[in-house]
Amino acid sequence: MTGFYRQDATLVCDDVPLEPIAALHGTPLYVYSASTIAARYRAIDDAFAGYPHAIHYALKANSTLAITRLLRGLGSAADANSGGEIDVALRAGFIPAQIVFTGVGKTMAELGQAIDLGVRSINVESAGEIDRVDALSRERQVRTKIAIRINPDVDAKTHPHISTGLKTNKFGIVIADVPALCAHARTLAGIDIVGLHAHIGSQITDLNPLARAARALVDLARELAAAGTRIEHLDLGGGLGVSYDGSRVPSAREYADAVLPIVRDAGLAIVLEPGRQIVAPAGALLTRVVDVKEAGGSGDRLFAVMDAGMTELIRPMLYNAFHRIEPVVRTDAPLISCDVVGPLCESSDTLGRDRMLPRPRVGELYAVLDAGAYGSVMASNYNRRPLPAEVMIENGKAMLIRRRQTIDELLALEI
Ligand code: LLP
Repeated sequence: MTGFYRQDATLVCDDVPLEPIAALHGTPLYVYSASTIAARYRAIDDAFAGYPHAIHYALKANSTLAITRLLRGLGSAADANSGGEIDVALRAGFIPAQIVFTGVGKTMAELGQAIDLGVRSINVESAGEIDRVDALSRERQVRTKIAIRINPDVDAKTHPHISTGLKTNKFGIVIADVPALCAHARTLAGIDIVGLHAHIGSQITDLNPLARAARALVDLARELAAAGTRIEHLDLGGGLGVSYDGSRVPSAREYADAVLPIVRDAGLAIVLEPGRQIVAPAGALLTRVVDVKEAGGSGDRLFAVMDAGMTELIRPMLYNAFHRIEPVVRTDAPLISCDVVGPLCESSDTLGRDRMLPRPRVGELYAVLDAGAYGSVMASNYNRRPLPAEVMIENGKAMLIRRRQTIDELLALEI
C-alpha cells in the first residue's frame, strides 16, 4: 500500500507524474498520496473492527493541516503532543473530546489550555503532573479526565533514540508506583482517572513487546479495579513500524491479532495512537541533483549532492535510518555506488550511503521514499534554508497544501 510506483520508466504518485509537479513547485518538495493515507487508516480501523476502539492519529508524525483534515474526514481522532498540536487539531476541525494530550514535559500553559478545552484525556507522565492537573482544574472548578502513562519496562527492540518503554527512559510512571498514586489521585477533586496509557517506542517490527505492554496495561487495570479505581479505556499508544527496505513487517491485522485477545480480557475500550503506520509510505521527498563529484578522486564512488538534506529529512542522519532513493525517471546509465548527500555544512548530512544508482546527472530529479512520517515535521531552517513546499495528490489532482517558506518570512520574526 503505497501511492508511489512506476509507469514504464517514470515514478508517479497515484497515476500523476512527479516531474511536472517538481517543475511547477520547485524542489525540495514533499508529495503525499491522499488515497494511501486513507487506505492505511482504514486498514487499522478494519483490523480492530468488532472491538470498541478509537484511532487517535499521532499528529507528531505529520501535522500539515491538509493531512490532519484528511484524517479527521476519515473518522480519525487526534493525539496531540504540545499546545501547538492541540491548536492544529482544533483548526483541522477536531473537537476537544476527540483529542488526547500526551507528552513528557507539558507546561502549565499547555495543561491549562487542555483543561479549559476539556480534552478526552490528558495522558499524565508523573506524580507531579497529576498534582498540577488537579490544582489547575480546581482553580477552574472543573474535573479533568486523565490517563496514567505507565512505563512497562519493555524493550521495544527498536533504535535507542525512539525507544520509550524502558525504565531507563524518561517516559511514564513505573508500574509498581501506580496503585498508590491512583489511591492518592482518587482523593483529588480536580481529576478523574479514565484510562491507562503505554507507548513503548516507534518503528517497532516485533509484535512481542507490543503484546507485553498490552498485557501490562490489562493486568494493572484489573489490579486497580479490585482496589476501587474503575477506568474506561486502555491507550495502547502507537509504534507499529513500516518497511523502509522491502523486508516483511507485521500488518495492522497481525498487530490487532496480537493485542486484541489480551485486551479483550479487560473488556475496556481501546485508544490507538498510530502515526508512522498511516503516513510514512504515503509521502516522498523530491530533490534534484545539484552536483556530482568523485569521492577521494578514486573514480569508483561518487557523491551525488542533492538540494535536500538534513534540513528536509533528518532521519538518516539522526537514526541512521534507511530510505529508498530512486531517480524519478529511470535511465539506462550504468549503475555506480553513490553517497547521496545534502548541501549542508555537516559531514553527517547524508540521505543514503553506498547506493547503487544509474550514474546521476546534475538537474536529475530523485525521490526519497517513505518520507511521509517524521519528515516535514522535523524540518529545520539550519543554514537559513526555508521550509519545503508540500503537495497532496487527491483524485488525480496535485494540490499545493503548503507553499515554500520565504527568506522574508523567516526574517519576519527578527528585531
Ligand atoms: N504516541 C506517543 C505518546 C508517541 O510518543 C508517539 C511517537 C506516537 C504515539 C506515534 O508513534 P508511531 O506510531 O508514529 O510510531 N522521529 C522518530 C519517531 C519519534 C516517535 C515519537 N513518538 C522517527 O523519525 O523515527
